[in-house]
Amino acid sequence: MRQPLVAGNWKMNGSLESITRLLDGIKAGMADVKRAEVAVCAPAIYLPAVQQQLQGSSVGWGAQDVSAEPSGAYTGEIATSMLGEFGCRYVIVGHSERRAYHAESDELVARKFAAARAAGLVPILCVGETLAEREQGITESVVARQLDAVIDLEGAAALANGVVAYEPVWAIGTGETATPEQAQEVHAFIRQRIAGHDAAVAEGLRILYGGSMKPGNAQELIAKPDIDGGLIGGASLDAADFLGICTAAN
Ligand code: PGA
Repeated sequence: MRQPLVAGNWKMNGSLESITRLLDGIKAGMADVKRAEVAVCAPAIYLPAVQQQLQGSSVGWGAQDVSAEPSGAYTGEIATSMLGEFGCRYVIVGHSERRAYHAESDELVARKFAAARAAGLVPILCVGETLAEREQGITESVVARQLDAVIDLEGAAALANGVVAYEPVWAIGTGETATPEQAQEVHAFIRQRIAGHDAAVAEGLRILYGGSMKPGNAQELIAKPDIDGGLIGGASLDAADFLGICTAAN
C-alpha cells in the first residue's frame, strides 16, 4: 500500500512572518492527519527558518528547484548538498513554471533528478501537458517524453527513490481541476509506462496530482487507484485549506 504524500509548493509567496504563522497552523492540525505524509516546498531563502520551525515535527520540507551541478561557477544557483545541510528531504524538479519561464529542457530536468537522488534527496518530478497539447491529443506522448528523459539517463529503477507529480499545465493556478477520471487516466498511463521497464518500481511509485487541488476536490482525486496524493500550490498557502487536503487522504 502506497502512503499518500501531500506536498505544498509555496512558489514565490510568503514572508518570514506569514510562513511562521502558516507552519504553526499546519503543525497544530497534524494530529488529524491519519494517513498522509506531509511536506512543504519553500522558497530556498526560507529553508533555514522552515527547518527551525519543523525540526522534530512530522512535517517534512524541501525546495522548489536545484542545480544539476555539484558546485562551482553557477551564479544564483543552489546545490543539492546545500539543501541537504538544511534538512531538506524533497526537491521539486521540472515544474512547468521552470520549464516555461526558465527554458528547462527534459534533459536538464533529468540531470536535476539524478543530482537530487545522488545527494540523498527525494526528487518530485513534475510532468504534464499544456492545453494546446491536450487539445491536439498528444497528452500521453508529452508525458512519456518527460518521463523517458529520466529513464534514459538513469534507468527506471531511479524512480524508486523519487516521486512523480502529474500536473496538467492548464489546471495549475487556474481553478480548473482535471476531473478525477481525466487525472486517473494519465496516472495509470504513467504507471504502465514505468511498469514496462520495472513492475515493482511502478507499483511502489507515488504519483501525485497537481493543479487546483483543494479540500473540496481532494478526496475524490486521491480515491482514484493511481493517485497517491497531491502537489498543492495556491491551497498550500492557507493552513486550513492545506490541512483539509491532508486529511482528505485519511
Ligand atoms: P495550484 O498549483 O495548486 O495553485 O494549481 C499546483 C502546482 O503548480 O504545483
